[in-house]
Amino acid sequence: MSFAIAIDGPAAAGKGTIGRAVAARFGLAHLDTGLLYRAVGRKVLDGADPVAAAQGLVAADLEADGLRTAEAGQAASRVAAIPEVRAALVDFQRAFARRAGGAVLDGRDIGTVICPDAEAKLFVTASAEVRAHRRWLELREAGSTASYDAVLADVRERDARDTERSDAPLKPAADALVLDTSDLSIDEAVAHAVAAVEKAGAPGAG
Ligand code: DC
Repeated sequence: MSFAIAIDGPAAAGKGTIGRAVAARFGLAHLDTGLLYRAVGRKVLDGADPVAAAQGLVAADLEADGLRTAEAGQAASRVAAIPEVRAALVDFQRAFARRAGGAVLDGRDIGTVICPDAEAKLFVTASAEVRAHRRWLELREAGSTASYDAVLADVRERDARDTERSDAPLKPAADALVLDTSDLSIDEAVAHAVAAVEKAGAPGAG
């Protein structure tokens, strides 16, 4: 049995939180595909060639330190605009999506390019200000002194690059359910996502 759930959306919209919660609820494997691009971006910051880094990526690279930083996020967004980098990461993501037992993948192009035949597709979004505020709180919690304005500028810059690139730009699939979490708590957003996945006939639903 395979059952793929695609969760796409811009930076800091809550895809990861929703993806993990949905995976736990239905007993599915979860892949944060942003980590693949962050791992490549990290290697490029350390001097590697982006295409060679993507082609040589191994599972241990996803455990590297510093993948969650704003610097790694920006580097990820830059390497993600290179078609050969994206191409090198497609097979792994498609195989993950169709693994036995079902899978949740979150990213930017899961419902449009990686898994257009996913059984359930969500596009999770929120205003840039709300996303920046959430990310700023997270960073502050982690000890960062970055200002809200700097975080907002970072979010806007990544949004622009991710939506304007020519290869696999960030956009909702035509058949995705758009979930705007601007005015929702985490629990409410997860409840909406779980309901949508149940409606799509998820294994173990009900
Ligand atoms: O979801 P994230 O913030 O960890 O993603 C980091 C960057 O990686 C994002 O700005 C664009 C890129 N990305 C992508 O192009 N396609 C994906 N499926 C996931 C991430």
